Amino acid sequence: MSTAISPTAYNYKVVRQFAIMTVVWGILGMGLGVFIASQLVWPELNFGLAWTSFGRLRPLHTNLVIFAFGGCALFATSYYVVQRTCQTRLISDSLAAFTFWGWQAVIVGAIVTLPMGFTTTKEYAELEWPLAILLAIVWVTYGLVFFGTIVKRKTKHIYVGNWFYGAFIVVTAMLHIVNHASLPVSFFKSYSAYSGATDAMIQWWYGHNAVGFFLTTGFLGMMYYFVPKQAERPIYSYRLSIVHFWALITLYIWAGPHHLHYTALPDWAQSLGMAMSIILLAPSWGGMINGMMTLSGAWHKLRTDPILRFLVVSLAFYGMSTFEGPMMAIKTVNSLSHYTDWTIGHVHAGALGWVAMISIGAIYHMIPKLFGRTQMHSVGLINTHFWLATIGTVLYIASMWVNGITQGLMWRAINDDGTLTYSFVEALQASHPGFIVRALGGAFFASGMLFMAYNVWRTVRASNPAEAKAAEQIAVVGAH
Ligand code: HEM
Ligand code: HEM
Repeated sequence: MSTAISPTAYNYKVVRQFAIMTVVWGILGMGLGVFIASQLVWPELNFGLAWTSFGRLRPLHTNLVIFAFGGCALFATSYYVVQRTCQTRLISDSLAAFTFWGWQAVIVGAIVTLPMGFTTTKEYAELEWPLAILLAIVWVTYGLVFFGTIVKRKTKHIYVGNWFYGAFIVVTAMLHIVNHASLPVSFFKSYSAYSGATDAMIQWWYGHNAVGFFLTTGFLGMMYYFVPKQAERPIYSYRLSIVHFWALITLYIWAGPHHLHYTALPDWAQSLGMAMSIILLAPSWGGMINGMMTLSGAWHKLRTDPILRFLVVSLAFYGMSTFEGPMMAIKTVNSLSHYTDWTIGHVHAGALGWVAMISIGAIYHMIPKLFGRTQMHSVGLINTHFWLATIGTVLYIASMWVNGITQGLMWRAINDDGTLTYSFVEALQASHPGFIVRALGGAFFASGMLFMAYNVWRTVRASNPAEAKAAEQIAVVGAH
């Protein structure tokens, strides 16, 4: 086989922009996470100001980590993967650039409006209507660029990673547009088009599928490209990946009601959500096993390759959180876990262990390639980052399990005469040590991101424009 350089080149500019912003937003979003975790330890950090209070900064944290950090990682990797697996350039440079600047504008809008207290009050959908409309326009453009590129692909097959990215893009558009249907009454205030239990159901149909499609399906697309690439092995089973895809997207969409157990939602809907959540364990683990088994014959690489370690450990946390989730969806378990820190622990097992770790691994894989280098400036620093991230995640999750179960048991303890055994404040005091450990774990994780920023900066600085340009060429394998 000969390798010829084709005259056309990939659009790496937009990939570089999103990749760098992933690191920037990661530091800010996680830094803010450490700050709000510290507020729960030392309430004085609310500073007595409305806009620095926990209630306003918490949604800013979730928006920054999910949409800014996670979103930029998804844009960067999907644009990289779709071009490389389709052997073609993105269909439009200007539309791609619009998605970059539009997305950054939405994030800046969130940073301004959320601390000011402008919010729809719907979790993960807090942005008021002008920003929500901008987001919808950016997202539809993203869909055009992504699917347009698939249409003009030079390869016969559509690689499975693109199926996952594609589903994530389509379903996110659907969720966002339906859940945001509302009546604006002023520039910064709107009311939901739905009311009562229907509004709650739509919101958690959105909320759960934001988890299922934004925080899971998109990152599985990442997994299907970067794990085989970094391990230099083909994916374990292509057939399993197809079964995984269809089973996952068919089941996820029904699981939302597990967020509304013991509420005014009809009982049948709650039971349906519970049943679907339990079945969801199967495709989730199918995907995890497919990723893990890709390392067959390459396990020894874990000893020397910290990027692969990030990717594999993220799969282990994915497996853990998708075991825990179905358990928490069982109504009797949920009656203990709901409202407690157990949920927060579960969230961050997925968010730190899975979403952040796989993104970090993918960015470390891409950065040298995007900037015409053979590897990152320092492999040792990636290793340091890996351990900070792993220890940080474990401290976070373990402290929240202890807190969650303690809170759940203390809240439901009842004396013989029917009165509560513990006051709310007693349960809060019992949670204090766990809050300290969580803040410490978060600080570990966030400080790892600073090592990453330094390492990325040194790698980028060492690149020269000619090398970076050469890296963009579409290398067509085989004689044409
Ligand atoms: C340094 C890392 C992080 C720290 C210290 C941190 C800390 C926190 C804290 C203190 C809360 C509020 C918990 C409460 O209300 O009791 C929270 C909520 C949340 N965080 Fe993080 N976080 C971090 C990283 C992340 C990342 C990377 C993601 C997503 C990719 C994420 C997603 C969320 C979500 C979704 C919630 C809301 C959970 C719920 O409402 O159940 N966090 N975080
Ligand atoms: C099979 C997979 C999963 C199932 C069945 C599942 C199930 C659940 C359940 C039952 C809850 C608690 C609802 C409540 O009591 O309010 C929950 C909360 C949550 N889960 Fe999962 N989970 C799964 C995987 C994941 C993954 C991989 C993530 C990734 C990051 C994740 C993120 C979240 C978030 C952010 C919440 C908090 C929502 C909120 O109340 O604000 N889950 N999940």
